[in-house]
Amino acid sequence: MTNHIVIKKKITPFKKKIGVSGDKSISIRSVLLASQAIGKSKLYNLLESEDVFNALKTIKSLGIKYKKFNSHYEITGYGLNGYKLKKNLVIDAGNSGTLARLILGLLININKCVKIVGDKSLSKRDFSRVTEPLSLFGANINSSNRKLPVKITGSEFLRPINYFEKLGSAQCKSAVMLAALKTHGLTKIKAKKSRDHTEMFFKHLNIPIKISKNKKFDFIEIKGISNFKSFDYIVPGDISSCAFFIVLTLLSKKSYLVIKNVNINKTRTGIITILNKMNANINFKNKKNYKGELIADIHVKSKSKLLGIKCPEKLNSSAIDEFLIIFIAAAKAKGISHFKNLSELNKKESPRLDIAIKILNKLGIKVKRNNYDIKIYGNPDLKLEGKYVIKNFMKDHRVLMMSCIASLTLGGEWKIYDTDSAKTSFPNFFKILKQLGAKIN
Ligand code: S3P
Repeated sequence: MTNHIVIKKKITPFKKKIGVSGDKSISIRSVLLASQAIGKSKLYNLLESEDVFNALKTIKSLGIKYKKFNSHYEITGYGLNGYKLKKNLVIDAGNSGTLARLILGLLININKCVKIVGDKSLSKRDFSRVTEPLSLFGANINSSNRKLPVKITGSEFLRPINYFEKLGSAQCKSAVMLAALKTHGLTKIKAKKSRDHTEMFFKHLNIPIKISKNKKFDFIEIKGISNFKSFDYIVPGDISSCAFFIVLTLLSKKSYLVIKNVNINKTRTGIITILNKMNANINFKNKKNYKGELIADIHVKSKSKLLGIKCPEKLNSSAIDEFLIIFIAAAKAKGISHFKNLSELNKKESPRLDIAIKILNKLGIKVKRNNYDIKIYGNPDLKLEGKYVIKNFMKDHRVLMMSCIASLTLGGEWKIYDTDSAKTSFPNFFKILKQLGAKIN
């Protein structure tokens, strides 16, 4: 553990315009879909992070060529039957749950055994949530103890399924949607609300998909086998990366930040709804529709009086990757903030709920926990003066970034380890922090 940083000073007021890198969910989906399209796809502003590099390595191991140009990546696909792979292929998904789960969907028709492995953190995560529905298509899937490694042998004789996605997991929904693409007949999915980038892509690629919605669920029907043509795509900015800078701005004095070209798909903007309910004043300007995704510039300014929130449970899914940083805002808000049923938060790159509570306790912030519900007792006068060491967080990129923002806004002297983990989702994180004036040693 040699890679650590030291932060001893709060950030000074800033007024800046920035851009963040491409959305991770959309980048991974665009790589996987391009690998199954017919022809050459061009992907612009693709996120160049470890998770996405692992997606590129994965399609390469499946016989798909890609080239990097100055402005874009070009991927040549040969349709849904276009993967060519060696015997006993092992795919290493690294830290990426999205990649590991979605690729299983695309391997559903491959009549060879492929083993999926991942890093220490990914190897602790549950895979039964995808292996169970995917087995119903007729693939042979084995996992040890519901976890990685997972071995899949697909089949040429698949049957469509009816699937009820109860967790609100876009990864599960998308894995089944990708398998449906490769299966003759009509697959029907009833899904608890979750991010809908795969649906947007399917529509844009003219894949036969029908979607209807009620308040709680989305009903999706996909007709396979549905080959589709290659495409050009400009990946919009990642709101999950913006989240750290939004809270940095809110909790800093006399600051103003504009973040250009961010994906504000409403299945992702839970953080904005939550922070605005906490009395922040975050605005979207220059809204436009891009191939079904909504994009805008985000404007945010400092807010000295944030208020506690009773966070509506229905926002959990659309803020799922942002709760860590929302907790820091809640720690500095007036009053008690309540968050309910955050069990899925403990199923991420690290048990984020447990880790967040430990960090908040370390900072002297009172937290009450009841199963997966928590109350954070905010303190608007919170000023830290102690020394804080952040390590052993399973290299969770979002724990790292949350800790950096806490140190730059709350004070104290911080030593934060495993800084390399930013590369998982946001390699430019430190560069942008420095552009905003952060002093990091
Ligand atoms: C993702 C879905 C979410 C999210 C993850 C990315 C995706 O996970 O936490 O970072 O790209 O589909 P779940 O689907 O497990 O909720």
